[in-house]
Amino acid sequence: MKKKCRLQLFNEECVSGIRRHFDDNSIDLIVTSPPYKELDGFSWTLIKNIALQCYRVLKNNSLCFVNFGHLAGYKSRPFQVAMEFKDAGFEWIDTITWVKNHYTPVQGNKRVNNLTEFIFKLAKGNNYSLDRLAIGVPYTDKSNIGRYNDKDLRCPGNAWFIPYKTIQRKEQKYHKDRFPVELPRRCIKLSGIPKGSFVLDPFGGSMTTGVACYELGMKFIGFEIDKNTFMIGKNRISKLGGNICKLQIG
Ligand SMILES: C[S@@+](CC[C@H](N)C(=O)[O-])C[C@H]1O[C@@H](n2cnc3c(N)ncnc32)[C@H](O)[C@@H]1O
Repeated sequence: MKKKCRLQLFNEECVSGIRRHFDDNSIDLIVTSPPYKELDGFSWTLIKNIALQCYRVLKNNSLCFVNFGHLAGYKSRPFQVAMEFKDAGFEWIDTITWVKNHYTPVQGNKRVNNLTEFIFKLAKGNNYSLDRLAIGVPYTDKSNIGRYNDKDLRCPGNAWFIPYKTIQRKEQKYHKDRFPVELPRRCIKLSGIPKGSFVLDPFGGSMTTGVACYELGMKFIGFEIDKNTFMIGKNRISKLGGNICKLQIG
């Protein structure tokens, strides 16, 4: 891996691609959102294999954030996905709930509307240090200022309200399952990694993690199997002025 190369995008299947291109212990942070449904490429073989690859390429004492949503017919699936990462060697440290401002209304009278997704925070080794105040929120009770530090900031906890705009018809050029830039931004800031660190997203989609990396001065490696989605992501990064030093189109 070239040290100076900042943005590397691969229109490739991620398990075989990561195996081919990346050494053991070469990545500082992983932020990703695997496909949730079979229709989008989900399978247990894929999850098992990508969990093993993520564990292999991540440096010791580093973090992996896996975002996964609810599925009406498969309520335990997000937790089973986290268990596969645990079985690959990761410690399952935190379960963060992403609280949204929009939802697709559920019909009928059996379920309530779903406003959340999960972000599993997993670690390889336990000698890492979070920067909790990098994503800190002000104290509600200001008398707490000075109790733990002298700033009006506290750890945001494990419920993250991250609003996002609904996708209008003219914006369909992005990705139906993209997460807001604020989600990978928070994960990267919380991880405390220094600028210039290598961040991997095996399921890059429209390369939202890449956008956050570009903004925060990180090096980004993104994989995406679907060519149309990949080109959307590539164009999104190019528009920001991101210099893509390695581009592999399948
Ligand atoms: C939940 S979406 C990720 C969306 C992304 N976070 C964004 O903001 O655009 C999952 C993506 O994984 C891609 N995908 C599915 N199987 C894959 C595989 N084996 N290798 C690489 N990408 C894959 C899908 O095409 C889809 O774009």
